[in-house]
Amino acid sequence: MAKLTYLSHSGWLIQNETHQIAIDPFLTGNELAKRKPEEIKAKYIIVTHAHGDHIGDSIPIAKANNGTIITNFEIANYCSAQGANVHPMHIGGAHQFPFGRVKLTPAWHGSSFPDGSYGGTPAGCLVTIDGKTVYHTGDTGLFMDMKLIGEMDTIDVMLVNIGDNFTMGIDDAVKAVEFVQPKLVIPMHYKTFDIIDVDPQEFIEKVKAKGFATHLMKVDETFVF
Ligand code: NI
Ligand code: MN
Repeated sequence: MAKLTYLSHSGWLIQNETHQIAIDPFLTGNELAKRKPEEIKAKYIIVTHAHGDHIGDSIPIAKANNGTIITNFEIANYCSAQGANVHPMHIGGAHQFPFGRVKLTPAWHGSSFPDGSYGGTPAGCLVTIDGKTVYHTGDTGLFMDMKLIGEMDTIDVMLVNIGDNFTMGIDDAVKAVEFVQPKLVIPMHYKTFDIIDVDPQEFIEKVKAKGFATHLMKVDETFVF
C-alpha cells in the first residue's frame, strides 16, 4: 500500500514498503515545513520545475541518499553539474522506474533557477505506484489539455495548486478537477507566502459541491491511498 505525506507547499513523499520518492522537497527557508532535509530518505526526487520553492533541497537530498533526481532535461543537466545523479525526461515522456512509472505532463508556468539559469519548460507529473496513480500538477495555470490527462490515465489522487497569483486560484482549480476527474483531490501551494494565502476550506467546499472526494492535508500528515 502506498502512502502520501505532505511536506507542505508543493512538497510530498510517496512511499511504500520498499520505495520512497520525494516530489518538490522545499524545506529550507519554508516556514510551514516541519522536516529538515536530512530527515528525507528518498532514493528518487521528482522536480517539476526550477523555481526555488520546488527545486528546494532536492540536490542535497539526492546527494545524501545517493538518490536520483527525475526531472526535465535542462534541470537534470544543472543538477548533474552540481554532482547529483539524474534521470532526464521531458514533457509527454514516461519511464518505468523500480518503484513504478513517471510521466511528465505539461504545465503553464516558468522554470528559471534562483540564480537565473535556464530550467527548461515546467512540468507536472504522474506517478504510478502499487497500481495507483497520483497527478501532481506542478505550478500551472488552468489548461484544457488537463482533460486528456484524465482520459489517458485513471487519476486516483490529484494534487492541485490553488494559491492564485502565480498559479491557478480556487475557481480555476475546481475547473481543473472537473477536467481531470480524479477519485480524490488534495489542494497544495497555498499559505506558504502572503501572496498565496488563500483559504483551502473554500476550495474543499466548492469541490465537494461538484461531487468530488477531497481531503485537506496537515503538514506532515500521512495518508494511505
Ligand atoms: Ni513556480
Ligand atoms: Mn511555486
